[in-house]
Amino acid sequence: MRLSVIGTGYVGLVTAACFADLGHHVIGMDRDAERIRRLHDGDVPFYEPGLAEMLQRVQQADRLQFSTSIGEAVERSDVLFITVGTPSKEGGDADLGAVTAVAEGIAGALTGYRLIVEKSTVPVRTGARIRDQIARLTGGAVPFDVACNPEFLREGSAIEDFMHPDRIVLGVTSERSEQLLRELYAPFACPLLVTDLTTAETIKHASNAFLAMKISYINAVSAICERVGADIRQVADGMGYDRRIGRAFLDAGVGYGGSCFPKDVAAFIRIAEGAGYKFRLLEEVARINDEQRETLLRHLRDALRVFADRTIAVFGLAYKPNTDDMREAPSVAIIDRLLREGAAVRAYDPAAETNARQLLPAVTYCPTPYETASDSDAVVILTEWDEFRSLDLARLREVMRRPVLIDGRNVLDPQAARALGFHYAGMGR
Ligand code: NAD
Ligand code: UGA
Repeated sequence: MRLSVIGTGYVGLVTAACFADLGHHVIGMDRDAERIRRLHDGDVPFYEPGLAEMLQRVQQADRLQFSTSIGEAVERSDVLFITVGTPSKEGGDADLGAVTAVAEGIAGALTGYRLIVEKSTVPVRTGARIRDQIARLTGGAVPFDVACNPEFLREGSAIEDFMHPDRIVLGVTSERSEQLLRELYAPFACPLLVTDLTTAETIKHASNAFLAMKISYINAVSAICERVGADIRQVADGMGYDRRIGRAFLDAGVGYGGSCFPKDVAAFIRIAEGAGYKFRLLEEVARINDEQRETLLRHLRDALRVFADRTIAVFGLAYKPNTDDMREAPSVAIIDRLLREGAAVRAYDPAAETNARQLLPAVTYCPTPYETASDSDAVVILTEWDEFRSLDLARLREVMRRPVLIDGRNVLDPQAARALGFHYAGMGR
């Protein structure tokens, strides 16, 4: 099939590369000319495991091209995926400016039937609005369909998630669009759920909000664990063996970040409000998430008394491991607070340093955890990169000024740390 993917960010680039790898001819279109120039040259604009190799493979096979022209994308494809950003506006509503601009661009270039698929995460009824917008702009002269095919990939495992999804959701309004999408997804061996547009849009928001709720639930339980002396990791394991609950997304810590959960929880609250329902449960999910940063700072303050003139070593800056994405990373709010209260902050992240430098210029960046910890008054772990699980704690203890270890992601063994003389505090342990 001939496909275009409009917006070559995390979702768009992975979608374009994976469909091309499955044998389709794909155009990756973006309005960002610099990004398209870099992609032409084989330079991937962000870190995602396996993506650079896949892009190289499909570009060499001539199945993936890049363009800044929406006209070219519309002319040369049967199916157009919209994968532009939908960030939060003040107040929490999703900003649909980019989606609307793309729909306008498509309408201006439409000459024959095309299927337009929203893959961006959008509020309910956006699909219907896109359909009305394009119909109005084309005066009803050209046939087209709008479908919703929400994306459930996670950064850091995006290719694996895209290629082996738990389910595929297709929100459609016509038989023709359903057939096209069924054909496109035929090689995927997973349940395929066909719904109307609004239901598909709701499934995406309900899924992200539910996962965020699981995280906030376990973080709330971790607050109780701290007070009663229980270990949250064992509590999560004990709950997780119940197949009705499941162990995934029950890791307590400094809370969720990233470009999706914070904005999508906020957007779902606003969608509910617009529909006349006050989603207090989700308001609490967001509040508990914010509270986790405070809990970590409290643990650190308990150990250091004050932050002024202390040197804090931060291990991990990205909002999660295996990505260089710093959007809404808990590290940003926490480090800002430490700096404001007079601490010096040194930091190490295996992938996110370049992006972190833009957001946190006052931090001293170091190439290894041990250099970061050198002469520091405390080490704080904010991202669960695998390499932190196998830290040489004795070596760490030797280079530090004070043996304080605040484990914001519960990656270390508290007993091993305490046996070496560390003041150790995790989240809910
Ligand atoms: P992103 O910010 O990484 O990328 C968006 C891209 O769209 C940018 O390259 C930007 O230049 C381009 N763009 C903006 N306006 C454009 C226009 N008018 N024409 C052409 N290109 C335009 O965004 P992302 O993280 O890939 O997210 C995209 C959407 O997918 C969002 O709605 C998000 O909620 C959803 N989503 C994201 C993830 C994820 O893990 N990042 C997963 C599932 C769904
Ligand atoms: C999330 C969803 O998992 C994807 O299904 C969805 O497609 C995507 O949002 C989206 O819509 O954009 P992502 O944000 O990439 O994916 O990463 P996650 O693995 O979900 O992690 C999100 C945040 O939750 C991270 O900060 C992570 O550290 C935190 N988290 C996750 C926890 O604090 N505890 C957990 O148990 C799991």
